[in-house]
Amino acid sequence: MTTKKTILLTGATGYIASHTWLVLQEAGFEVVGVDDFSNSSPVVLERLEELSGRKPVFHRLDVGDRAALEEVFRLHRIDAAVHFAAYKAVGESVAKPLEYYRNNLGSLLTLAETMRTHGVKRLVFSSSATVYGRPERLPLVEDAARAATNPYGATKLMCEQILEDLQRADAAWQVACLRYFNPVGAHPSGRIGEDPRGIPNNLMPYVAQVAVGVRPRLQVFGDDYDTPDGTGVRDYIHVMDLAEGHVAALRYLFDKQRSVTVNLGTGRGYSVLEVVKAYERASGRPVPYDIVARRPGDVDACYADPTRARELLGWQATRDLDTMCADSWRWQRMNPQGYAPATSPPA
Ligand code: WQD
Repeated sequence: MTTKKTILLTGATGYIASHTWLVLQEAGFEVVGVDDFSNSSPVVLERLEELSGRKPVFHRLDVGDRAALEEVFRLHRIDAAVHFAAYKAVGESVAKPLEYYRNNLGSLLTLAETMRTHGVKRLVFSSSATVYGRPERLPLVEDAARAATNPYGATKLMCEQILEDLQRADAAWQVACLRYFNPVGAHPSGRIGEDPRGIPNNLMPYVAQVAVGVRPRLQVFGDDYDTPDGTGVRDYIHVMDLAEGHVAALRYLFDKQRSVTVNLGTGRGYSVLEVVKAYERASGRPVPYDIVARRPGDVDACYADPTRARELLGWQATRDLDTMCADSWRWQRMNPQGYAPATSPPA
C-alpha cells in the first residue's frame, strides 16, 4: 500500500486552484491548501467540503511569509507544490508594478527557498500565454519567443526564468511550467466558480453578469482586428480541463523525474462575438453589446498548439465552448453575487 502523495497548493481558494483541489483529491492525492484571501473567499472552503465530503486541510497565510510557510512544511510531509498564488490583473499591474513584482516574484522565491530547506524539489508553476507577448506565428508552440507586454506578464516571464536558473544550478529540481490560455467555466455542480471582485476584466465573467442582469451591456473592445469577424480571438479552456492538466503534470513529475513546459489550451480560437452567441445559447438570455474602441495591449488572436501536452502528459482538453458557457451560466445563475451572501433572490 503506497502512501498517498501530499500536494501543497498556494492560492488554494482562488478560481483555478479550488477546481484543481477537487480534481487532485479525486485523483488520489492529499492536499494542503494555503491562501491569504486577498483575492478569494473563505466560503470556497465550505463549498470544497460540501463537494468532496472531506474537511479541507488549510492554513491562512501569505506565501511571502517565510515563517508561516515553514510551519506548514513542519506540520505536513509535502511531496510537491502547485504554485497558483499571484496577482493577475493586467490593467492593475500597469498601475501598480511594485506591488506586482513584490507579490508575484516574492511569493515564488519564498516558496522555492522553503521547499529547498525541506528537500522538496517538485514544483508545478502556474504560468500564462501572456509570456509570449504579441504572437509572431499561430498556433503558439512552447519554444516561441517570449516577451513581456505588461508588468503582470513580466512577473510570469521572470518567474519562468528564475525556475530555469534554479534547475541549471540544481538538477534535482523538477518543474512543470504550465502556460494557461484563457480559463473559463466552472465546476458542473455550480457550487464553485470564477468570482472576480468589482468589474470583471475578463470576457466570460463579464458576459455572465450581463446574461444574469447584473450589468446592462457588454463592451466589445474593437471589431477591426485581423480575424474572421473582426473581434479578438482567444483560446478559451474549461477550468476543469485546466485542473486535470495539473494532475497530468504532477504525475509526469513523479513518474518521469524530469521538467516540462507545456501550453494548456484547446488549440481552437473563438472570437468575442462567437463567445457572446454561445453564451446566449447556453443561458437562453440576450447579451446586448456595443462595439467600442480597442483595449490597449490586446492582440488580434492568440491560441495554443497543444501537441506537447498531449504527447508528454497524455492530456488534452475535452470540453467545448458550449460546455464552458453552460457550466459558467449554472455557476452565475446559482450564485449571482458569487461567494458573497446573496442579498437578492437568485435570478
Ligand atoms: C478576451 C477577449 C478582449 C472583456 C487576459 C490576460 C491573460 C490571462 C487571461 C492571466 C479579448 C475581449 C474582454 C470585455 C471584450 N490572465 N473583451 N470586452 O486579454 O486574452 O487575457 O486574461 O493569466 O494574462 O491578459 O482575456 O478575457 O480579458 O479578453 O471585448 O469586457 O475579449 O478584447 O479580445 P485576455 P480577456
